[in-house]
Amino acid sequence: MADSPEFAPGLAGIPAARSSVCLINGAAGKLQYRGYPVEQLAEHCNYEEVTYLLLFGSLPTRDQLAAFTAELAAERHLKFRIIDVLKQLPESGHPMDALTAAVAVMGMFYAEGDHVADPAFRRLCAVRLVAKLPTVVAAWHRIRRGDNPIEPRSDLGHAANFLYMLEGEEPDELAARIMDAALVLHAEHSMNASTFTCRVTASTLADPYASVASAIGSLAGPLHGGANEVVLEMLRTIPDSTPETVRVWAENKLARKEKIMGFGHRVYKVKDPRADILQTLATQLFDKLGSTPIYATAIELEKQMKELVGHKGIAPNVDFYSGIVYEKLGLDTDNFTPVFAISRVAGWLAHLLEQLEDNRIYRPSQIWTGTADRTVPTIDER
Ligand code: CMC
Repeated sequence: MADSPEFAPGLAGIPAARSSVCLINGAAGKLQYRGYPVEQLAEHCNYEEVTYLLLFGSLPTRDQLAAFTAELAAERHLKFRIIDVLKQLPESGHPMDALTAAVAVMGMFYAEGDHVADPAFRRLCAVRLVAKLPTVVAAWHRIRRGDNPIEPRSDLGHAANFLYMLEGEEPDELAARIMDAALVLHAEHSMNASTFTCRVTASTLADPYASVASAIGSLAGPLHGGANEVVLEMLRTIPDSTPETVRVWAENKLARKEKIMGFGHRVYKVKDPRADILQTLATQLFDKLGSTPIYATAIELEKQMKELVGHKGIAPNVDFYSGIVYEKLGLDTDNFTPVFAISRVAGWLAHLLEQLEDNRIYRPSQIWTGTADRTVPTIDER
């Protein structure tokens, strides 16, 4: 049956909520959290400030930020039984699956309140989730290779503490600042697949841990957050960074109708503003630590893609340069998407809080394509 006019595959262009969390102008390449341009937030605010802004609607004062930072730091620790759960998981498993599992069980360990009836408990759940996700990702990174997790430190910022928990070394100032900016850039992006998933689960009044666990599952796919991992693998398959090689590689891929990872976006029809900022951060890192061949390949691919498909509005998205930055910061490739999750949890929770302010369970309709009113035949008649 042909698509009915009311049917929008992928719900493209269909508003799923009224929201004041995030504004995107895809034609102009503009992204704002609560009305503030992401470029200004990445330059002037740390992840804790941006999380406060997303969750509570305004930028914190100095005192509010100090109190919120302390609250987050105090909630970083994981109960040892959650660590025990992680120890039971197969070390070959993907870190996104370990993260989904750990967040789902958190709901059982931190279930002392009613998040629907009690806004203070709802807030506590949000703080706990933002604070504990980096601890889970770092703990799994160590457990799967046979090392003990490292306890979080409360004297470090959110980003620096995450890097510290991975290897037990305090990161230098530039690494911590770049990790922090990357977290700010990924913190929110309006009604994408994982945010929609989070809002749908929250709308059933399931607890915030279940809502965030389902959002993590949704983020994991290669068309969404999982793209940052695949981009690096893809760039490694391009033999060298000369214009001729990259051009032929891209042309062949496009001719086979294969997607080139890290390009294209449902909303942006120009270069994603976050890709520009990440590219600047990559340059800062390379100035200090030396460049990588893969960066030269990425720059050339962006150039060739502009000539080949730029006119169709296909340009680099946030995932194109993020993996290059994370690799230089020493992260394992399969930890790139978990890093996306530890940032995006702030946005998911902002939407969850907004959803619960004026909740109606999500229950869309469908277009029936089957045969109706059939009679069940006996088993011999089938
Ligand atoms: N490479 C080649 N062609 C592309 C690409 C790409 N990356 N993206 C879109 N196109 C083409 C597509 O083939 C189609 O062409 P035509 O009209 O000739 O059939 C047209 O552009 C529209 O594409 P679409 O897949 O219908 O667009 P969509 O809005 O449904 O999908 C997308 C958006 C992001 C899933 C898609 O661009 C894609 O698969 N990109 C690669 C994966 C990726 O980088 N994902 C990260 C997205 S940003 C971060 C996040 O959300 O997590």
